[in-house]
Parts: sequence; C-alpha cells; structure tokens
Amino acid sequence: IQKQPTLIFMFGATGDLARRKLYPAFYQLYQKNQDFAVIGLARRPHTHESYRRLISDTLPEQSGERKGFLDRFYYLSLDIEHPENFGVLKELSDRLDKQYLLQGNRIFYLSLAPRFFGLAAKNLKNAGLTETSGWKHLIIEKPFGHDFMSAEKLNNDLLQVFDEKEIYRIDHYLGKEMVQNIEALRFANPIFESVWNHRYISNVQITLSETLGVGERASYYDQTGALLDMVQNHIMQMIALTAMEPPSRFETEEIRYEKVKVIQSIRPVSAEKVSDQVVRGQYIGGMMSDGTEVCAYRDEEKIDKNSNTETFVAARFFIDNYRWSGVPFYIRTGKRMTAKSTEIVIQFKDNPKNPYFYHLNDAEPNLLVIHVQPDEGLSLKLNVKQFNETGNTMPISMKFCNNCANVGNTPDAYERLLADCLKGDSTNFTRWDEVAYSWSLMDSIVASWSEKQLPLDRYEAGSMGPVSANELLAKDGFHWWPLT
Ligand code: BG6
Repeated sequence: IQKQPTLIFMFGATGDLARRKLYPAFYQLYQKNQDFAVIGLARRPHTHESYRRLISDTLPEQSGERKGFLDRFYYLSLDIEHPENFGVLKELSDRLDKQYLLQGNRIFYLSLAPRFFGLAAKNLKNAGLTETSGWKHLIIEKPFGHDFMSAEKLNNDLLQVFDEKEIYRIDHYLGKEMVQNIEALRFANPIFESVWNHRYISNVQITLSETLGVGERASYYDQTGALLDMVQNHIMQMIALTAMEPPSRFETEEIRYEKVKVIQSIRPVSAEKVSDQVVRGQYIGGMMSDGTEVCAYRDEEKIDKNSNTETFVAARFFIDNYRWSGVPFYIRTGKRMTAKSTEIVIQFKDNPKNPYFYHLNDAEPNLLVIHVQPDEGLSLKLNVKQFNETGNTMPISMKFCNNCANVGNTPDAYERLLADCLKGDSTNFTRWDEVAYSWSLMDSIVASWSEKQLPLDRYEAGSMGPVSANELLAKDGFHWWPLT
C-alpha cells in the first residue's frame, strides 16, 4: 500500500459501527503500514486511555502487538450542536498534524445520526478545520437523506464545505469482493459479455436475505423499512453493476457515469402498476433454521405494536434501454429470513424445444450465480447427458469459491473502502447523481404505495418471505431459484 499520512476525524467514535467494523479495519490498515492518527469524537466523556481500551476491546483476540497502534488514537468529547468545542478540536488536530508529520491530509468520517451530517460539516468549516495544507476527504455513512428532497438538501449543505470529488458516500456493499468482481466477470470474459443482454437472458434475480431482526436499531429501522434501508442503496448498486455498459475507460468517472445511466433508466413504479410490481412484507413469529423461536416484528422491543413498516420487500424492475428491453430484474430483501445470503442469479433463456431431440427437452435453464456472501464465488449451472443409457439430460453445477478453501482472509469491505479513500480513489463510493436517481425511483414507489394503500403481507420468521413474493415471478412464468 502506498503510504498516505492522514489525520482521521472519527465522528461517532463510540458507536456500534465504529466498534464493530471501523477499528478492526484501521488495525488491518496499520498492519499494512498505513500511516495515520485518529481523533475519536463523540459526546460521552472519555480519556485518551479509556478510549484506547475501548478500541483494544474491538480487536480480534489473536491480534499481535497493539500498543503502537492504540497510541495513535486520541479522544475529544464533542457536542456537534456546540460549535465552540470545535476550536479545541482545531488545536488538537494542528498539534497531531505536526507530531505525526501528517502533511495536512484529513479524513472526516461521519458515522453519526444523519440529522447531524450537515451541521458537523458546517462547524468544521467555521472552525477552520477544513482549511488544510493537504487534501481533505469526507466519508459519510448512510442514510443519505430519506427521500430525494432531503438528500438534495443534505448534498447542498455538504457542497458548502466540500467539493463533490471530496465527498465519499459509503455503500459498504461496494467494498465486498464479489460486488467489486462483477465488472471483471462481465468485461474480462467474452463468453459472458456476448450473451449479456435481452436476447439471451430471461431474467435476473437479486436476493439479500438476513436472519437477524432489527436488533438495537429499532427506532431507525421502524422509520425506514426494508425499501429505504436496503434497496435504495445496496440493491440499486448491484443492479447498476450487473446491467451497466462497459465503460470506455477503466476510470472512476467513466464507471460511475455508466452506473448512473442504468439507475436513471429504471422505469418508475406508477400507482397503477405498483401492486403488480412490488410486494411488502412483515415477519410474524417463527422458528429460525437453528431452531430458535423468534417473536413477531411488532413484538420486538421498541417497535410500535401497530407498526406497518416493511421488513421485507420484493420488486420487479425494468430497465428501459436497448440491452435490457423486456428483461425483468427481480429483487428481494428482508430480515428474519431463512439464511444470511447475498446472490445475483442470471437466468439464461431456454433453447428452442426441438421434437427431434425430445430427450433433451427437459434441460434446465443455464444459470450464472454470483455468490457475494457468505461464500464468495461463482457457479454456473449447465446441462449434460446423464451418464447412463437413457440419453436424458441432468443439471450440473461448476463452482468456484474464493473463501471456501481457506485461501486466506480477504479484507473486510470497510478496510477496502478506507484504503480507497486514503489513496483518493472514489470509484467504489456513490456519486451524487446515482443517489439522486435512486431516491427518485424510491419516491415513486413510496408515493404509489401510499396512494394505493399497498397491503403488508405477513411471512413467518425463518421463511423466504410472503407467498406474494413468489407470485410476483410466477405471473411471468418464473420462480426464485433456491439459495445455494
Ligand atoms: C446495512 C443495513 O446497510 O446493511 C442493515 O442498514 C443491514 O439493516 C446491513 O443489516 C447488511 O449488511 P451486511 O454486510 O451484513 O450484509
């Protein structure tokens, strides 16, 4: 890794994300010789020492020498709503800049309640923290707004302080190995790219299923729901990468431009069509595959007993461009489903039925499956003749798995994204226009839902969602392929 001395301002330093994902990722980067110091910022009081202990507790037990790493962390108690505290932050940061020879390079990482995003940026600017001799990058966590209007307002607030090129909007799915691999798979393999269109592909299915419930994030989730929590960002990004045209150059803005074109081309969901195209679900109690009984969403702690928030959503999207004309993209995501899994299935069209080869007519569709998690890899489903005298066909699956044979730890999504931000590569972060078009599409769905009072279908915890999600495909003569 090329060294980029940097001072990192970690807003939300004691929060769940920082503890679960970010400190372990910083540790990995430190071990790869990244050169940084961190100022942890949050409201609750901590000394540098107690903050370092908190970080130490987040590291894997077997990790080696930590002192050198932990010594680079400093803490300042800061209330975003009290700008006077930012003056103290400036003094500390100028001191650390000199002490560690960080050349004025700064990352401001906002892992905060979204209502503080704009204010944090403004206070940083007013206190002179963004006037620096090196570069400055802003990393911003989701949710980036809750509809188009609020996202645009937030964006305008941020643009008062940072240029678009300095804003790194995180979508952690873009840091996952197999999501990053979609482009290579498509554009480095002529056998796929030549058939990657409406002539040969019958439909695409994207599943992001989770077994967890809402956990500690009940109040956020109950106001958000599966559509805005998962579809607006992660699923839209996976559709964009699966469907985009090859960029003319392998460069950040060229790639992002092609992704924007896909999101922009997804047909908005009208009120007339919404019940035909979108399914909303909410889980009732049930048994998970490990045998644990779990309660209904409405009985979860801190969830409104009458909540109508969807914990599951399935939809059928169409991309109105030449390549994808008439090809449905089915998506589904939900909490408390059968398994934790993310997969993209490309289903190819069937061969014409041929009376002279009747014994081949039971062949199954060819499928290419991109396994994003928990396994990372690919599988390709083909037909061969059975190894006997019947002459009938049977399906076989060719599978490549990157992490099944203990090839070694692949870096976590956050580690990859942080490393990208340190070196100034924003390819795997979302540009404003991607976010904007994605919100417009979500707004069309939310408006149609409320106009048509789209029902909330129940599904048992531990299942793959409501029956209506199967009907969504059955109407077109398809079915969800089981997770593999
Ligand atoms: C987050 C959502 O963006 O992604 C969570 O807010 C969800 O609700 C999470 O659990 C899933 O991420 P991963 O990496 O565990 O699949």
